[in-house]
Amino acid sequence: MSESYTWLITGSNRGLGLELTRQLLTSPSNTVIASCRTPDKAAELHALKNTAKGTLHVIPLDVSSEQSIRDSVRHVDTILAGRGLDYLYNNAGVNPTYDSPFEFSYPEFLEVLQTNVGAPALLGQLYFPYLEKGTRKVIVNVSTGLASIGLNAGPKCNSYSISKTALNMLTYKQARARPDFTAIILDPGWVKTVMGGEGAVLEPEESVTGILKVVLNVTPKDSGKFWRYNGTQHPW
Ligand SMILES: NC(=O)c1ccc[n+]([C@@H]2O[C@H](COP(=O)([O-])OP(=O)(O)OC[C@H]3O[C@@H](n4cnc5c(N)ncnc54)[C@H](OP(=O)(O)O)[C@@H]3O)[C@@H](O)[C@H]2O)c1
Repeated sequence: MSESYTWLITGSNRGLGLELTRQLLTSPSNTVIASCRTPDKAAELHALKNTAKGTLHVIPLDVSSEQSIRDSVRHVDTILAGRGLDYLYNNAGVNPTYDSPFEFSYPEFLEVLQTNVGAPALLGQLYFPYLEKGTRKVIVNVSTGLASIGLNAGPKCNSYSISKTALNMLTYKQARARPDFTAIILDPGWVKTVMGGEGAVLEPEESVTGILKVVLNVTPKDSGKFWRYNGTQHPW
């Protein structure tokens, strides 16, 4: 990590977003704009400042609110103070239910779509000028193996899987729209977080260590691809 990079991460208060922020802050080269719904309650995130070698800024951002997404630009613009954004890391996500294609709640389905794909789409649009100014120009859209049709995961997690498959297509479109950008889909693996549950196989530290190797090294030729945390790829 010898270059100096700027990062905007969503959902940084716990789980993979918190661990990613922690690992990035072990290097003085990273300026991390860590966003979360309620910064006042994000004690673990603020505590990272005590040991950080990099620079941490915490800003409010509720990705289920269009207004909050739009308001975040003002915060980020002030923090960047003319610098570009190197990484937009769309980590925040929800999987509220184990629904199926013939049994699901319609309002919940729409909420999942809004949070998991609508928000990354709008964030990509709003932060596009900042990414253009950055040296890396990387968008990371955090997906899941459940979004792969090729892996044939079956009918479970209907709303979540559909939202993340749509996120994959968004990434493909972003990659094709701007060949000089690097827009990737990233599956963190099955990780012990609130979402992954206790039965998961990976600790957040292991997943994020692998993720960083991937995201720090991707170039435009890797764009639009469905990466796993360990550097292998999923089928679409
Ligand atoms: N863990 C796994 O096994 C696994 C596997 C595949 C993919 N993923 C993906 O990895 C990403 C991170 O998940 P995780 O495992 O770290 O889950 P997690 O522990 O449940 O954390 C989810 C994060 O997303 C945030 N979030 C949810 N809705 C939000 C909103 N409207 N606005 C802002 N932040 C919001 C949460 O904030 P609050 O505290 O405010 O709710 C929290 O910080 C997700 O996109 C998930 O789909 C995880």
